[in-house]
Amino acid sequence: MSFDPWKLARKEVLDLPVYSPGRSPEEIASSYGISDCVKMASNENPLGPSPLALRAILENLERCSVYPDSHSQELRSALSQKLGVSPEMILVSHGADEAMDLIAYAFLDPGDEVVVAHPTFTSYELAALTMGARVIKVPLRNYRQDLKAMLAEVSEKTKVVFVCSPLNPTGTVVMREEWEKFLENFPPSVLCLLDEAYVEYVDEEARFDSLSYIRSHPFLIISRTFSKIYGLAGLRVGYSICSPEIREILEKVKLPFNVNQLGQIAAKAALEDQEHLRRSREVNARGKKRITELLEELGLDYVPTQANFILVKNGRFPDLYQQLLRKGVIVRDGVPLGIPGHIRITIGDQRQNDRLEEALRSLVREERKD
Ligand SMILES: Cc1ncc(COP(=O)(O)O)c(C=O)c1O
Repeated sequence: MSFDPWKLARKEVLDLPVYSPGRSPEEIASSYGISDCVKMASNENPLGPSPLALRAILENLERCSVYPDSHSQELRSALSQKLGVSPEMILVSHGADEAMDLIAYAFLDPGDEVVVAHPTFTSYELAALTMGARVIKVPLRNYRQDLKAMLAEVSEKTKVVFVCSPLNPTGTVVMREEWEKFLENFPPSVLCLLDEAYVEYVDEEARFDSLSYIRSHPFLIISRTFSKIYGLAGLRVGYSICSPEIREILEKVKLPFNVNQLGQIAAKAALEDQEHLRRSREVNARGKKRITELLEELGLDYVPTQANFILVKNGRFPDLYQQLLRKGVIVRDGVPLGIPGHIRITIGDQRQNDRLEEALRSLVREERKD
């Protein structure tokens, strides 16, 4: 009899959907023979990392031979100063993604429930399913999370409610009033994760100080990342802010050296680089204006966004994702994101936005010829 590892794997693992990431230019070059693709699919920063982070990495390359600080103390202390919360309330993780896993490992038993919006960022669901928890999905209303309906799904089995703002994949945000109402009605025996991976892109008018609610609402965990505006997606560094007790519990299940040496060093340097942050916001704002004006001109519907990506309806181009791909522009198809009939475009720099514009205009020209 031959060895079959599938027979040994847990049922939850066998049933787990596989995460499908944005495709890389190298993959598209080899499968479609298209060179010179632009990737506008994974909400990375088109400016790349902060020059201060790059310099810090280069100056510290030799430290690769020693284990990193298992508690990311220096980075936590820098974050603590920046955010005005004590280091005991900060957990640094291997990307914000790891925070979702840690919450699941630490708190979810088989049969427990979590409540999420649908669609939302898929890591919440994957983390919960891995532990055998049930995922209750609450449909969006007009591309926004329906917090009231999400609260209505909380039962005695619920352990965590996951809220994402700005919401991936729509780019809509939770507004202060609805957030406060949500917290007022939130059951104090359940955890709430507020995922703010894109918070630095949010316009002033739509922003509120989410951290100020943690002390009065100890069930809250707020997760953020260095992968987006800080341009360090490849180094995998995220952080969460929560009560010291929750941090202590999550620390128990994390790997001892969860955040690599260069990641900790680069993130600390990136945090200081106000100029890079300012430029990144500016490039995004310019790109957002340009892309939304273009979509309006071409008659393509989109969801107004507070993030560095835009959700666009396929409309009269049912195969928009593939059509753009054939023109060397890689975006995300709505199907794996749980929102068929749409694509999600990461706002790029001028060169990437030029390519997107060229591709969309040529689709419209080809349409007219048909
Ligand atoms: C909403 C949201 N949260 C978290 C993450 C994960 O970020 P990280 O790269 O820090 O794991 C992403 C990445 O795309 C995201 O879109």
